[in-house]
Amino acid sequence: MKRIGVLTSGGDAPGMNACVRAAVRMGAWLELEVFGIERGYNGLIAGDIRQLGPRDVSDTIQRGGTFLKTARSEAFLTDEGFQRSIDMLENFRIEGLIVIGGNGSLKGALDLAKAGVKVVGIPGTIDNDMAYTDFAIGFDTAVNTALYAISNIRDTSAAHERVTIIEVMGRECGDIAVHAGLTGGAEIILVPEVHVDISDICRTLIESRNKGKNSSIIVKAEGVDIDPDYLDDEITRRTGLDVKVVILGYIQRGGTPTARDRLLASLFGAKAAELLHKDLHGVAIGIVDDKIVWPELGEALDAKKRSNAQLFDLAKLLAL
Ligand code: F6P
Repeated sequence: MKRIGVLTSGGDAPGMNACVRAAVRMGAWLELEVFGIERGYNGLIAGDIRQLGPRDVSDTIQRGGTFLKTARSEAFLTDEGFQRSIDMLENFRIEGLIVIGGNGSLKGALDLAKAGVKVVGIPGTIDNDMAYTDFAIGFDTAVNTALYAISNIRDTSAAHERVTIIEVMGRECGDIAVHAGLTGGAEIILVPEVHVDISDICRTLIESRNKGKNSSIIVKAEGVDIDPDYLDDEITRRTGLDVKVVILGYIQRGGTPTARDRLLASLFGAKAAELLHKDLHGVAIGIVDDKIVWPELGEALDAKKRSNAQLFDLAKLLAL
């Protein structure tokens, strides 16, 4: 293999730049020509493709976002768009492709692999909802950003003796809520994986107050199907406590990647270039029990997400 391409797709995640950098530089070391594809699958379809050398990725390791840009591509889901993306790889004589993104993006990579394209997937999503890997690029940074916000909010929440509901990202997965909630000392964590009644939340808050806690933090994952303002109104109505809502939103997706995310991204990006150089493809790189793994893409996407129940239970116990 002589020429490989790399793209970032779906929601951006801090560390994607470090991953592209590693793929480009490991590629150069292995004497591969590396092409950057802009705007995810949309850019592949449009031919937004340019060669990247080691100097083109200078000064990117510390940056959030993705300098290649990203998109959630509707066009790629059509037969025409899908075929065009394969044609475009042929036009540029790109023999191997690295796709960095979440579940939807790697599903696209699997479809390409089934059509004969040599693909390697890399998990990049702050939600950490990819079942086959313990961690995806961007998760650690998002948790730290959420934790910073929670710590600041705790100060003012305590000063005013309030309950604050802090909504963090995580459409289908409560990992950000559990990790940031546990490390931020939240009294209550709400995740899509565990159903909790509003009456249980209210009882816990009153019991906390009766134990001498004058303020409480509720960390809620966005995937929990309760509108935070409705939750605010219900807690206020049922308990008389003073409640505020803070939705952290996109602040969690940006920012300079943590050392841990840069390391993970560098390991993943370098390994992807190495695998393609060895003509190994149709796999998704991940990390399990601190070891880099690369199961087949289909197997990776079919994996069952390991539970975050242990940390969830510990957080509850430590909120005594
Ligand atoms: O990247 C994951 C995620 O942040 C989800 O938690 C969130 O719901 C979603 O992306 C929103 O992204 P966008 O508005 O860019 O589609």
